[in-house]
Amino acid sequence: MNKALIIALSKGRIFKETLPLLAHAGIYPQDDPNSSRKLILDTNHVDIKLLILRASDVPTYVQYGAADAGVAGKDILLEHGGAGLYEPVDLRIARCKLMVAGRVDDDSSPENIVSGRRLRIATKYVNSTRRYYAEKGQQVELIKLYGSMELAPLVGLADRIVDVVDTGNTLKANGLKPLEHIVDISSRLVVNKAAMKMKHRKVKAFVADIMQAVVDGGSKPR
Ligand code: ATP
Ligand code: PRP
Repeated sequence: MNKALIIALSKGRIFKETLPLLAHAGIYPQDDPNSSRKLILDTNHVDIKLLILRASDVPTYVQYGAADAGVAGKDILLEHGGAGLYEPVDLRIARCKLMVAGRVDDDSSPENIVSGRRLRIATKYVNSTRRYYAEKGQQVELIKLYGSMELAPLVGLADRIVDVVDTGNTLKANGLKPLEHIVDISSRLVVNKAAMKMKHRKVKAFVADIMQAVVDGGSKPR
């Protein structure tokens, strides 16, 4: 695999929405990660492989050079911090917003004191959340969760959550409402800084192809 170009993706939304961009670049996976158990997928190019990872692990694989490039949500990249990574292309896929949300009956002002204590925020985005409230000068208590954040305010674990929101349907279905917009999110192509030098030609060509795919708006016929 050493000389191959290794691209890290997560299955689900990112894989599905990256496929047309890869197709535009003439890259076709030989398996579907949603039905196959394989974690390394061959493509129609012997020297291009895809790694299938948890979304939040993509920046780590690329940072350490286990993958040359990858696709990750800006939410995940903000949490990771971006060390060792170039972020050359906004792919404009998997678009959503990072938001603060609370119960529909949450009419308290966003001050930090709720009945004599700090506002308690449940989230998997602890770094972004800490930064956001620090910039507002508001001291909050953070509770790290790994999923199903919407539950936390309903059962009294937290006052509010910070999560990604697209249609707002998940919030609504759980008696929550968006309160504050933190940042717009889309997925980015990330590239290992060293790979940009060592596999310069291959990586550069791949970045250029994906950039063109974004400009042209997705796949072209095989
Ligand atoms: P993990 O499996 O590691 O918990 P995840 O469940 O967040 O990650 P996905 O749901 O596939 O992984 O989301 C991948 C990326 O897509 C997120 O990092 C975010 O940038 C974006 N995203 C998440 N939810 C939505 C949504 N409802 N609409 C649009 N984009 C979204
Ligand atoms: C994400 C996110 C929210 C939901 C928001 O979950 O965690 O729960 O999307 O989207 P909406 O505003 O359109 O309802 P996802 O569907 O990816 O499931 P997950 O919890 O497995 O990540």
